[in-house]
Amino acid sequence: MKVIVCKDSDEMSRAAAQIFAQRIRKKPNIVLGLATGGTPVKMYKELIRMCKEENLDFSKVITYNLDEYLGLSGDHDQSYRYFMNENLFNHININKANTHVLNGKAKDPAAECKAYEEAIKKAGGIDIQLLGIGGNGHIAFNEPGSPKNSRTRIVDLTEKTIQDNARFFASVNDVPKQALSMGNGTILEAKEIVLIADKASKADAIAKSIEGPATEQVPASLLQSHKNVTFVVDKDAASKLKKKYEAPKAAKAASKGCCCC
Ligand code: PGA
Repeated sequence: MKVIVCKDSDEMSRAAAQIFAQRIRKKPNIVLGLATGGTPVKMYKELIRMCKEENLDFSKVITYNLDEYLGLSGDHDQSYRYFMNENLFNHININKANTHVLNGKAKDPAAECKAYEEAIKKAGGIDIQLLGIGGNGHIAFNEPGSPKNSRTRIVDLTEKTIQDNARFFASVNDVPKQALSMGNGTILEAKEIVLIADKASKADAIAKSIEGPATEQVPASLLQSHKNVTFVVDKDAASKLKKKYEAPKAAKAASKGCCCC
């Protein structure tokens, strides 16, 4: 597992955007797994900037999002489809038909989950998956205790996640109690995984995920078994790690006084 510790959340966002931009330039029809939440917003802004200023081309890119609230339609302003349109898709040259978010209003949610799994497989699998992390170590809406081999399914949100996400809703009572979410098993099948985290509120979860035992009680710790995972965290989120980890390349070059790269 690679761990990159950035000085702050801006540097974390740029470092993660760089990884994604490199992969997109190398494989224009790449399949991205994308995440929502507060953490990726600045990273998405950086990708938008690269699209506008550096010709980063999304025209052939395909995306699958991790999860969606059960019961919210894509035009609800707290749905994850709405979030993705507002924070990324509306501002880049992506073909919206190539962007996939689970339908929270599906008549048959179980069938929706099954079809999502099949669609990912048909697309050739996810080349690179972006993840945030919950304060309780969840990835997507795989809450503590979610099986390692779980697939896309209907999940119950924990009280902690409902409280954490209440900040986006008018009141805590408006937060849906269930969601559709890729499973840990679905996520672990991605060829590459990048997990981003900032803020001290994530420090416990980050330390347990990287330096603790791999356990379903901390879903992000299951990433330890994956061959190609990078954690990109800021120093607040890294504050409970015991070992020393590397700084991002640009920061290392700057500290050597390099001005040309
Ligand atoms: P956040 O959520 O980015 O809003 O902190 C991350 C998560 O719960 O996965």
